Formats: sequence, structure tokens, C-alpha cells
Amino acid sequence: MIGSLVATAFWAMLPAYVPNNAAVLAGGGRPIDGGRTWGGRRVLGDGKTWRGTAVGTLIGVLLALGLNAINGPVSATLGVSLPTFPIQAAVGLALGAMLGDIGASFIKRRSGRERGAAFPGLDQLDFVVGALLVAFLVDADWFLSTFTLGIIVVILVITPLLHVSTNIIAFKIGAKEEPW
Ligand code: CTP
Ligand code: MG
Repeated sequence: MIGSLVATAFWAMLPAYVPNNAAVLAGGGRPIDGGRTWGGRRVLGDGKTWRGTAVGTLIGVLLALGLNAINGPVSATLGVSLPTFPIQAAVGLALGAMLGDIGASFIKRRSGRERGAAFPGLDQLDFVVGALLVAFLVDADWFLSTFTLGIIVVILVITPLLHVSTNIIAFKIGAKEEPW
């Protein structure tokens, strides 16, 4: 029971988890805010680039389509009916994750935190909130049939754990400048 909830939650959120990590690897180039400041601070900062956002979103969508392709055998093996991603849901999750992360950078800059500064809580859940919100906006029927209350609770528990561990790995292998 709990195992199938965790498997479903993880599967449903993979297209939202991977974009941030892909952006870390693809980042660079022009910052989204074009270097502009607001109130003496950068609007978003150099850590939010067009390339990172575009590549992250694309990877998330492609991943969702890949998961759809292997859904049958994986669901059968696990004995769980894993969700499939309509294209709009795939885009919603991936783009929403990137937008949530961008929104968090906006909040961090307004609160005086420089690029790369940690903001515990926000760092771990910004992309979850963004992904779920945008997925709901683009496909409410799919969202409501996929994200039951139990699934959302599991997501809120496992995401920070996954986020912390993958970021420590990214830091150790030199892909990220800070371990958060
Ligand atoms: N990145 C990007 N575009 C995005 C998100 C991330 O290019 N939309 C890349 C940047 O190279 C960034 C790295 O991924 O430095 C790590 O992402 P993140 O931790 O979100 O950014 P930070 O540099 O820590 O900046 P911030 O304080 O704004 O979160
Ligand atoms: Mg950061």
C-alpha cells in the first residue's frame, strides 16, 4: 500500500524532478533577467538562464514520453497502475518545476540572498509547488485523478529527501557549486 503510493508519487513527479537537474548540467548563457536589477538587487540572478530553463523543460517532457512508453511493463512488474502523462501534463510538470524554481530565485533575491544562497524549505519544495500548480492549470482532470491527497502527502515527504541527496551528489561530482 505505502509502497505503491511511493512508486506512484515518484513516477508522477519524475518529469518535475529531472528538469532542475538537467538545468544544472545545461546552465549557462544569457540570464533570463538580462542582468536587470530591482531595488538594487538582481531580479533573478545569473543562476536562472534561458538555456537551462529550455533544456530542463525539454528533458522533462521527453522523460514523461519515455515513461509513457515503458508504463505497461513497469506497472505490470510492480503490480501498480502507474499514471501516464498526456502531453500537456508533461509540459505542465516540467515547465511548472522550472517556473517554481525561478519564482524561488525571485523571492531569494528580494530577501537579500545572493545567487546560490540556501533557503531551507523553499529550495526543496519550490519546484513541487510550481509543477503541481501548472499541471493543475493545464489539465485539471488528469491532475485530480493522478494526485490524490495520499500521493501529495507522499510527494511532500519524499521530495525534500530526494532533493537533498541528489544535490549532495551533484556537488560532490562538481556539477553544482553548493550542496543545496
Ligand atoms: N540553472 C539554469 N537555469 C535555470 C535553473 C538552473 O541555468 N532555470 C543552472 C544555473 O547554472 C544554476 C544551476 O543550474 O547556477 C543551479 O541551479 P540553482 O541551484 O537553482 O541556482 P543557483 O545558482 O543556486 O541560484 P539561486 O540562488 O537563484 O537558486
Ligand atoms: Mg541554488
